[in-house]
Amino acid sequence: MQQELHMTEIQSLVSSSEYKNAKAALLKVLAASSQRVSGIKHQSSQEIREEYQKSLKELSTNKGREPYFPYLSSGIGSGPYVELTDGSVKMDLITGIGINFFGHSHPELMAEIVDGLGSDIMQGNLQPGIESQELIRTVLQHVGPKSRLKHGWLLCSGTMSNEVALKIIRQKKSPATKIFAFTDCFAGRSTAMQEITDNPKYREGQPVYGEVSHLQFYSPKLSLKENLDRTLGKMKFELDRYPGKYAAIMLELVQGEGGFNVAPREYYVELFEAAKKAGLAIWIDEIQTFGRTENLFAYQMLGLDEYVDVVTVGKLLQACMTLYTNEYNPKPGLVSGTFSGSAAALKTGRKIVEMLTQDGFYGKEGKIAKLSGYFGKQLKRLSDGSCKGLIGETRIVGGMIAFTPLSGSMDDVKKVLMKLFDAGVVAFYCGHDPYLIRLLPPFGVMTEAHIDEACGVIEKVLLSCKN
Ligand SMILES: Cc1ncc(COP(=O)(O)O)c(C=O)c1O
Repeated sequence: MQQELHMTEIQSLVSSSEYKNAKAALLKVLAASSQRVSGIKHQSSQEIREEYQKSLKELSTNKGREPYFPYLSSGIGSGPYVELTDGSVKMDLITGIGINFFGHSHPELMAEIVDGLGSDIMQGNLQPGIESQELIRTVLQHVGPKSRLKHGWLLCSGTMSNEVALKIIRQKKSPATKIFAFTDCFAGRSTAMQEITDNPKYREGQPVYGEVSHLQFYSPKLSLKENLDRTLGKMKFELDRYPGKYAAIMLELVQGEGGFNVAPREYYVELFEAAKKAGLAIWIDEIQTFGRTENLFAYQMLGLDEYVDVVTVGKLLQACMTLYTNEYNPKPGLVSGTFSGSAAALKTGRKIVEMLTQDGFYGKEGKIAKLSGYFGKQLKRLSDGSCKGLIGETRIVGGMIAFTPLSGSMDDVKKVLMKLFDAGVVAFYCGHDPYLIRLLPPFGVMTEAHIDEACGVIEKVLLSCKN
């Protein structure tokens, strides 16, 4: 018997010609406005600049501290360019620390936002909307055939998805609670995550519960064997010292905040084999790497699919999620949450995964690999030529680009970042000893011409620091 097709009210609405015409008209005016934000622009009016400073000052007073940059966006942009409320336009190469991979006011994403204007603004765990279901399904469709990840739980921050990861692992491994993490890792700033995050400044005045042991992350200065001896030696020492107490090993396969550090596949394989033997869960934090490397997941780029038990994603997805295998599915009550995201964000997240996986971004010949290679080539041209001695190391993995300017001290990095900002390019920093300029560029909308423009600004700024 043929099932009767049922159309919901929202489906009839979005397929109606009235809706389609209204949406097309709205997107047309949005696009026209967006197109006017078409390149770096400085504000020349003294009066407007003063007004802008006033409104920044108000924000600082209300927040209780100065912002890192004098940045307040107007809510519109185009491609890698974003307009600030003083009417100036910046080239955004840090994209909210990795959120806006498709730049600003992307027409296809604007269309999703318009379609997301339904009955509810935010969705939650108790009463999810269709957008929640579609996003979880779409992400799970791309975990890869060798992966054992089966479930996805939506959350509103990367930190919370790591909290959920920790809780489901501890429940499964109870009474073991301790975690192996890595030097220079970043996991967020909640009470539990600040203990995993390897930065004492982020836990000043906070308690430390002795639940985390930091293993040395891979160093390119040592051989593979030396690295493995160092990491696995400490791991064995700890496992022998606290038998039955360790529940998991957690790491970023490409460290973000830590300075875009990565290890070769063999290192991870040996590490994960040892972890498996010790009965540890393998928990990968892909909050910064998700979507940015030569595969949707960095574990796919490194061929580690079968090892991972729990993975967290966020940032460019516009939503955050904890992904886990059947084995780690928690008992009811352990995880929940009022909010899982706005309908528009969840809808846009689904579209972003579709665009990333259908538009030729991945693989050795994909758009990310090509733009990444071109960026690296242009930075090398600078460091070998006009900026010799002004650019030290470069670290590049897909859409994660970093380089050491001048001495690599924090003072020098901050000086360069402020000058870049004034010249129209927004970037940030990562690492330490040396510090690096960190770029998480909107490769989803960038061309080689944009990279040339960015490198032109970088060159000008570095040369201005010479004297
Ligand atoms: C690797 C990693 N883990 C966790 C987090 C925390 O995510 P959120 O800031 O969304 O809480 C971040 C954020 O920068 C991150 O880069």
